[in-house]
Amino acid sequence: MDYFNYRHGRLLAEEVDLVSVAREVSTPVYVYSKGTILLHLERLREAFTELDCLICYSVKANANLHVLRTCAEAGMGFDIVSGGELYRALKGGADPARIVYSGVGKSRDEISAALESGILMFNVESESELAAINDIAARLGCTAPVAFRLNPDTDAHTHEYITTATRQNKFGIAIEEAERMLARWDEFAACRLVGVDMHLGSQITETEPYALAIDRLLLFVEKVRRAGHNVRYFDIGGGFGIFYRGSEARDASEFAGVIVPRLKDKGLTLIIEPGRFIIGNAGVLLTSVIYIKRQSGKRFVICDAAMNDLLRPSMYGGYHRIWPAATHLPFTQDETDETPLADIVGPVCESGDFMAKDRALPNVAEGDVLAIYGAGAYGMSMASNYNARRRAPEVMVAGDSWRIVRRRETYEDLIRPEVEISG
Ligand SMILES: Cc1ncc(COP(=O)(O)O)c(C=O)c1O
Repeated sequence: MDYFNYRHGRLLAEEVDLVSVAREVSTPVYVYSKGTILLHLERLREAFTELDCLICYSVKANANLHVLRTCAEAGMGFDIVSGGELYRALKGGADPARIVYSGVGKSRDEISAALESGILMFNVESESELAAINDIAARLGCTAPVAFRLNPDTDAHTHEYITTATRQNKFGIAIEEAERMLARWDEFAACRLVGVDMHLGSQITETEPYALAIDRLLLFVEKVRRAGHNVRYFDIGGGFGIFYRGSEARDASEFAGVIVPRLKDKGLTLIIEPGRFIIGNAGVLLTSVIYIKRQSGKRFVICDAAMNDLLRPSMYGGYHRIWPAATHLPFTQDETDETPLADIVGPVCESGDFMAKDRALPNVAEGDVLAIYGAGAYGMSMASNYNARRRAPEVMVAGDSWRIVRRRETYEDLIRPEVEISG
């Protein structure tokens, strides 16, 4: 489900040769395929066509302005979790009336800015937050549209760091607690309850957790409606998994298969907040081999991309397919039992700095370019300057053309926000 393919032994993004991009821009560099972003959006739209559905791209997955612009121009709304993401979304051309604001720790400044921008709704995560929103809305003389982000106590069977809807997690409001808040709604007169929301976690590859959680939330919607609130939005969050190894993801239509029948004819607009599903498989990280080091029977392929560029392997043990962007003849695109193993590591001074361990990788040479797949989501958006490394540039491909949409940082960029040393 992407437009990254080999032709004559060289990796193309759409019609663009990626080794040429790597040579011109130098590495490490993120490359995104606009066509793939739009393809993923199309898959979602087709799958949920029977429902009134608003797709709000989750900015945290990849907040590059050109990615956001692509999403906005294609009619997507946005899911944000901070004032910075609000700022970026608006700069990227977002329609504020299609922005939903999630997150457990919205500050008063952030709430004010979102209210003043006219966002669609706040996904409220606690009573204290609801009270703060109410207070700020009353001061501003407006009514705040809010949805309860409920914690349906549903295990999404994903990595423990990215599961978000069990009672052990900090996210969402327990349904009984939301019912208590509902009973005292007159204390929140500056808030208008317009929806319910959940987010089960990320990289979810089973449909059943959605079915279970939606059934729980629908019972709550009935109660809310009986209490006289005009609930219109049913936000199921993000979480649809993608291809990292090659076969684990579900089609959007499989998720829709359990979601659509439950929400059909309920007078609700479905909101989906996909991040990874839109941009994950739409991006690769290109890196060059700096050195090959053999030690204690191991082959270390030392590359110029590191954990500061792509944190997922170190942080979650995240798997990314890695393969040469141009393979020496005879060309092979897949590993075999004979493919030798390697640890693919970066230059950062941490043993946790690896892209893959004991991974089948052909006998690459110093200077070769490798493609790290599935790097579009939670790649650049989690990148840092650790070890005083400059963050990588980003390139957007569209058809047979490409352009740099974020330049490589300079050493001056690294120190710019710091107060100058005087004397
Ligand atoms: C509230 C919320 N919505 C949407 C997302 C996007 O999730 P994903 O990228 O798995 O679609 C996240 C990610 O953690 C989230 O916290």
